Amino acid sequence: MTVTTPAVAPAGADVATLRVVGKQVQAEGVLTLDLAAPSGGRLRDWTPGSHVDLVLPNGLTRQYSLCGDRFDPTTYRVGVLLEPESRGGSAYVHRELAVGDVVGIGGPRNNFPLVPADTYLFVAGGIGITPLLPMVRQAEMLGADWRLLYGGRTRRSMAFLDELSAHGERVLVRPQDETGLLDLAGFLGGPRPGVRVYSCGPAPLLAAMEAACAEWPPYTLRTERFVAADGGAPARTAPFEVELARTGTTVTVDPGSTVLEALDRVGVEVLSSCRRGVCGTCETTVLAGRPDHRDALLDDDERAAGDCMYVCVSRSLDDRLVLDL
Ligand code: FES
Repeated sequence: MTVTTPAVAPAGADVATLRVVGKQVQAEGVLTLDLAAPSGGRLRDWTPGSHVDLVLPNGLTRQYSLCGDRFDPTTYRVGVLLEPESRGGSAYVHRELAVGDVVGIGGPRNNFPLVPADTYLFVAGGIGITPLLPMVRQAEMLGADWRLLYGGRTRRSMAFLDELSAHGERVLVRPQDETGLLDLAGFLGGPRPGVRVYSCGPAPLLAAMEAACAEWPPYTLRTERFVAADGGAPARTAPFEVELARTGTTVTVDPGSTVLEALDRVGVEVLSSCRRGVCGTCETTVLAGRPDHRDALLDDDERAAGDCMYVCVSRSLDDRLVLDL
């Protein structure tokens, strides 16, 4: 997964310095970077579905899913698609970043965790294979029943086919120029308990997945998005107040500001990175009031629970929110 973000480093984030120790072409327009501490020391643990903030030497920050071996304690691997509309992130990685260069790394964080299940159905579109690859390895290691449906523009544009070919019929490779659109209904089958469905890819694929899983039990489908959600207009246009429970401070959020900006103005630092509701860095616990969720991370049930919000984009339905800050 890659997410387009403003040209900012993760605000206040704990950013480690890593060195590029490998750069390999994996498919047409897709390469992997291997990153290690300059000392060669151990990196933070991570779990399938995790991503990191990559702070590039040109000042841009991008989020990429970790797709390497989670049991290699000294190396992170990320997959990077050269975006046709790149504004300096993926183009820089592809054309300028070299082995030996130093980058900043924030995280890892996991907004897309693999939860226990009897059966996993994975559906990847293009570079959306990157968060699913460690999940496939984990499911295989656990002896779980799993299958992967992997679509792409062309076979040449699809990364990691060699590794996936070792899994035989569990993996269905479906290049669009050979087989057309993915047969989601045929792959998923009918709703049944004990199944978890994980999908990552472009927005049309994820919309099709939501439609295909509409009759499945709640919580079955988990998705990871490339881009910010289109939340439409905020639910309210009037200002609202945010009370910070730990200090008793009250901050007014006007219609032209985000909660994050309002907090920043009064010197309250909340870690942030993408500032578009896609990376999960600014997750904040809600103690009272109903958030107007505008992120691309929470599912319907998590939104209904209303006990956390992403303050870079989400607002308030009520006059007052109380946050655990
Ligand atoms: S900073 Fe990325 S979700 Fe808020």
